[in-house]
Amino acid sequence: MRAYWWEFTVVLYISVLLWGCEAEHRPRTERISGSAGDVLEDDPVGRLKVFVYELPNKYNKKILQKDPRCLNHMFAAEIYMHRFLLSSPVRTLNPEEADWFYTPIYTTCDLTPTGLPLPFKSPRMMRSAIQLISTTWPYWNRTDGADHFFVVPHDFGACFHYQEEKAIERGILPLLQRATLVQTFGQRNHVCLNEGSITIPPYAPPQKMQAHQIPVDTPRSIFVYFRGLFYDVNNDPEGGYYARGARAAVWENFKNNPLFDISTDHPTTYYEDMQRAIFCLCPLGWAPWSPRLVEAVVFGCIPVIIADDIVLPFADAIPWEEIGVFVDEKDVPNLDMILTSISPSVILRKQRLLANPSMKRAMLFPQPAQPGDAFHQILNGLARKLPHDRSVFLKPGQKILNWTAGPVGDMKPW
Ligand SMILES: *[C@@H]1O[C@H](CO)[C@@H](O)[C@H](O)[C@H]1NC(C)=O
Ligand SMILES: *[C@@H]1O[C@H](CO)[C@@H](O)[C@H](O)[C@H]1NC(C)=O
Repeated sequence: MRAYWWEFTVVLYISVLLWGCEAEHRPRTERISGSAGDVLEDDPVGRLKVFVYELPNKYNKKILQKDPRCLNHMFAAEIYMHRFLLSSPVRTLNPEEADWFYTPIYTTCDLTPTGLPLPFKSPRMMRSAIQLISTTWPYWNRTDGADHFFVVPHDFGACFHYQEEKAIERGILPLLQRATLVQTFGQRNHVCLNEGSITIPPYAPPQKMQAHQIPVDTPRSIFVYFRGLFYDVNNDPEGGYYARGARAAVWENFKNNPLFDISTDHPTTYYEDMQRAIFCLCPLGWAPWSPRLVEAVVFGCIPVIIADDIVLPFADAIPWEEIGVFVDEKDVPNLDMILTSISPSVILRKQRLLANPSMKRAMLFPQPAQPGDAFHQILNGLARKLPHDRSVFLKPGQKILNWTAGPVGDMKPW
């Protein structure tokens, strides 16, 4: 009886998708007009001017030379944003006319042999760079950093630790308290996300993703797809804490369910499989975000976001509620019922919205840059914060930041 019901559901969804492809009278993509979706096409040129500090190579280029793997890492936005700004028309060489100041520093490009970034030196490196800009130019002292932005793409942003409890204990580096942080980490009511930060997608390699594109009308014959870890086998064989238990719950409840194509194996057809799937699970891991969010949007697979209180990339421009499905962590055991009860018309609408190229562009950092890509969305986000409130400019001699706050280890020279 139960098996019959599953089969029926699979057949129903596959036919719905085929029907969707054949229904020529319907638009294949859909725009959300009159809502936030429209600002994705804004052109930032003319709306802000950015001054790029010139720093010694040891803060950026030399670090990359030591480990070119940083160019393909999910934290590579810190490098590509620098390159992009150097030749962007929003760049000004005259700091007196700048709206924003940018410090090109690659704090995340310090990888272990297995490729995991270790942010232990980042606080000292960041302090060193801020010391340098604040003594060489007068602009930092004018606002104590309030008109400066930094790209800090590590797991928990400027908290600079890969374990959440330690990251919370550290908090955002005191010297960055007034700056605007452009970061991948986003979770509401969390000490590692300051009000006013800009949440960005993690870096996913655009050329590689493009090389794996399959025809858009390929039927989506997989109902739910996920590849990744369910338990943190490296650190804790019990794995209970990992992903606050959400991934373990996915595995335990659905490993034998024929609608769920889930496994820890990472096949070579991973990108193709996402293009053959209706729903792609994006459960939290160590951090609430992962490259799966980007991959799902780019490959038109409806992202199923399981990460309570997540703040999604460019949430003021991308209608996440309309393109994705949000499932509370506690509701994972009902995931099958939640997903099978979404009506075919709702699924088709989400797929049409996802087919809109502006959503995909906003998720990627292509080289060279393209209008509407993630670089442009960052600039749009910075432009929307202008003009700066007059109150950010300090009185002569006024200081707000505390240069000696924070763990003593962070005070050592870099
Ligand atoms: C900024 O203020 C610090 C003291 O907090 C001072 O050492 C530094 O020289 C000032 N920078 C400039 C450019 O005057
Ligand atoms: C700066 O921070 C240090 C270390 O937490 C603290 O001892 C000191 O009182 C603080 N200074 C000010 C002016 O708040």
